[in-house]
Amino acid sequence: MKEKILITGGCGFIGSHTACVLLESGYEVVIIDNLSNSKVEVIDKIKKISSKEVTFYEGDVCDKKLLKKIFKQEKIDVVIHFAAFKAVGESVKLPLKYYRNNLDTTLSLLEVMNEFNCKRLVFSSSATVYGSPKSLPIKEDFPLSTTNPYGTTKLMIEQILKDLAKSDPTWSIAILRYFNPIGAHESGLIGENPNDIPNNLMPYIVKVANKELEILSIFGSDYDTKDGTGVRDYIHVMDLAKGHEKAIEKVLAETKIDCYNLGTGEGYSVLELVETFKRVNNVDVPYKIVERRPGDIAACYADPTYAYKELGFKAERGIEEMCKDAYHFVEKNK
Ligand code: UD1
Repeated sequence: MKEKILITGGCGFIGSHTACVLLESGYEVVIIDNLSNSKVEVIDKIKKISSKEVTFYEGDVCDKKLLKKIFKQEKIDVVIHFAAFKAVGESVKLPLKYYRNNLDTTLSLLEVMNEFNCKRLVFSSSATVYGSPKSLPIKEDFPLSTTNPYGTTKLMIEQILKDLAKSDPTWSIAILRYFNPIGAHESGLIGENPNDIPNNLMPYIVKVANKELEILSIFGSDYDTKDGTGVRDYIHVMDLAKGHEKAIEKVLAETKIDCYNLGTGEGYSVLELVETFKRVNNVDVPYKIVERRPGDIAACYADPTYAYKELGFKAERGIEEMCKDAYHFVEKNK
């Protein structure tokens, strides 16, 4: 049996796919999730996909009593910390909610990890920490800045982790900066299913294709990009999940703190994504061009070379597979 991994936020979109990948590779998985933006049924689906057992604790990562109980009961080797609020727009309206939750969960987790001498961590960060990049593709050593409180919580946590590792070099930490994760597990059992009206592009496209929403608004067609619409580095969530396994191998093999971009290195425009989605799924996605969304940047894509060199990570799935799997998930769960 391989190491035991605690996944905070393991019922969420990226966490649940990561749990499947780790179980299939023979790791033991313990999940803590307060179900604030996910459903408990995900646990059964993870078990079904992997044909393995998962230990689930329903609760909040801010709850240090519960965390201590988990660390006492389970012998955790590595933690992957996903649990966080992630809606950019809401974070602008309710900054205190975001700072309180995202920082409190992380500080409580780090304190309890310290107490139990568990010092290997994979942290879920975001390409949002690069703000408006001066040039493309984005490398890990680019200057960091943010445009909204959600992004600032990610950047603040990165700083907390760097300070922690400096004060105690026995900590081994991988900070993963995700580009734009989309798609779903090929089984169609788990995927991205926001309860409210989606903020992100792919969940919105899917709901329009499914006739749950009427029309997609494309935010701006006058950007300095190939067709005027925003360009992003979309990565299949199963590739992203694999990146977490590679990061676990890294924190087990080497004691250091480092940051890695997880992207494909390819940029696709909004129109390219919409057209690909329509073609591969043979479905209509009506859209209209509207004003730019405040805070959006024209283009953002990764230089994935460092993650390949250091982690041996390379995304394998293309844009068509991402579009097919995203739609397969909603079709199957109608
Ligand atoms: C956003 C967040 C980022 C977060 C990521 C999570 C911002 C500024 N950034 O990235 O911090 O880590 O989600 O996945 O919000 N678009 C439309 N119509 C829509 C929705 C989006 O045209 O209804 C366009 C956007 O203008 C953008 C592209 O689609 O060009 C992707 O948008 P989205 O999926 O929201 O991701 P990001 O904004 O890149």
